[in-house]
Amino acid sequence: MQGELLREGQSRSPREDQRSPKERLRPERLRTDCPVLLSERLVMRAPHEEDIDALAHLANNAKVATMVSRMPHPYTANDAADFVRRTKNGEIGKCVYAITKAENGAFVGCCGVEPHLDGRTVEIGYWLGEPYWNQGFMTEACHALVDMVFRTRQDVDQIDARCRVMNVASRRVIQKCGFQFQGSGLAASLALGSNVPVEWYRLDRKTWMSLRSWGSVL
Ligand SMILES: CC(C)(COP(=O)(O)OP(=O)(O)OC[C@H]1O[C@@H](n2cnc3c(N)ncnc32)[C@H](O)[C@@H]1OP(=O)(O)O)[C@@H](O)C(=O)NCCC(=O)NCCS
Repeated sequence: MQGELLREGQSRSPREDQRSPKERLRPERLRTDCPVLLSERLVMRAPHEEDIDALAHLANNAKVATMVSRMPHPYTANDAADFVRRTKNGEIGKCVYAITKAENGAFVGCCGVEPHLDGRTVEIGYWLGEPYWNQGFMTEACHALVDMVFRTRQDVDQIDARCRVMNVASRRVIQKCGFQFQGSGLAASLALGSNVPVEWYRLDRKTWMSLRSWGSVL
């Protein structure tokens, strides 16, 4: 996965460069580059078949689908199975996590990062099943995800986040992670079949480092 964060032509190890594109996307490679993340209440790991039922149930919600860019609605078990298969095969081409509760392993949502073409920026995306909203879970998950990106990917200078203008909860998560407003624009929504107004936020590495060290002296 980390290879996908490299610019075209940027150095990879010789062994990596000899591998075919298909080999580079093998599941074990994804696992290596997307380490399991642990936080106080959550375990974030690769999605797998056992998640399909819960994924289909939680994602089949217009309040979720209309807030993210590429989730079909209605969302069926076939959509969930296809999602898990494509993440396992590396076809989605990004670091995708199933968010689960540490206490019982319950699947509660997804998050992930996707590289931009500039090779220096990744974009964060996330959703949580409605029964789990407003308990601080996504802020906790995003803190872990942001820390992982900046700690393990020295080539990444900044993380972007976008949310619909009307998405108060997501804007709050973004703010609680230290992202700063950059501008507004339009983005496609698969569920709505149209473009929607969005806000664009960014967290750069130096701001993240500052926030981390600030937190440690409080
Ligand atoms: C957005 C989403 C991920 C937030 O997850 P979450 O775990 O509920 O978020 P948190 O609990 O960490 O934080 C939510 C914050 O929004 C606030 N909030 C939620 N609804 C609000 C509202 N209607 N008005 C004002 N604040 C609101 C909460 O009070 C909380 O802020 P606080 O900690 O300062 O009190 C979740 O609601 C979701 O998945 N929604 C549907 C999909 C989606 O929007 N994905 C993001 C696309 S950009």
